[in-house]
Amino acid sequence: MSGSRCRAAILISGSGSNLQAFIDRAASRDIALDIAIVFSNGADAYGLTRAANAGINTCCIEHADYADRESFDQALAHELDQHRPDLLLLAGFMRVLSPWFVDHYEDRILNIHPALLPAYPGLNTHQRVLDAGEKWHGSTVHLVTDELDGGPRILQGRLPVGSSKSAEDLAKRVQSIEHQIYPEAANWFSITAISDWPTMLNNSWQTLHLPMLPDGLIFAKSWCRNSGCFTGMTSTSEEQQRGQLIKIRCCSWA
Ligand code: GRF
Repeated sequence: MSGSRCRAAILISGSGSNLQAFIDRAASRDIALDIAIVFSNGADAYGLTRAANAGINTCCIEHADYADRESFDQALAHELDQHRPDLLLLAGFMRVLSPWFVDHYEDRILNIHPALLPAYPGLNTHQRVLDAGEKWHGSTVHLVTDELDGGPRILQGRLPVGSSKSAEDLAKRVQSIEHQIYPEAANWFSITAISDWPTMLNNSWQTLHLPMLPDGLIFAKSWCRNSGCFTGMTSTSEEQQRGQLIKIRCCSWA
């Protein structure tokens, strides 16, 4: 890491609203993270424009130009490594990564998935949640492993499906949560090595610098691979109503 700030590579394929959240939070320096490079696998991704507008290095390699998944991933890693990233953030990156790539950046890749994993891995989550008549929906930040959307979950934000009748409306509400929890989870990574997470979290109070969510609820939990222990965190609505910051009690999770 450079000083105490983490060098992040952000990988996108589309609009990049999560990228924008990182750009804004990093610029205000309330997260310990600098964006070293923004990468897209498609030249038309609007996120590239967002990055360029913010004066951030960008790079695009079209996956269609490569014979197979691993050769594309090797070209991608070659490009990223020139920027010495501490952390890779997948933010709407619509590519399955090869085991080679995941191994190359072991425990240094985070993803955000628009569902309360382990429920609803895969695509079209918002419509599937509506079709199933679910009461709750949300988004999950997790570590990336070889299993699609299956890595250890770090932080979740949830909201009541409530009055949302369309996938578009639900997606919009979920994204407003994503823009808060993803920078927060990445900041945890920046300030503490994953192996230290249980020490940091267990039996202590942590203040997450999240503004009150419009839907008024946040649920978070953390999993530490190295110690194999779970740390669960919840906050009650009374706690959330006390102020602008959400204070979360950390306790052991069997
Ligand atoms: C987000 O909803 C994220 O959960 C999913 O892809 C979407 C990307 O949106 N992985 P954006 O490009 O950040 O606006």
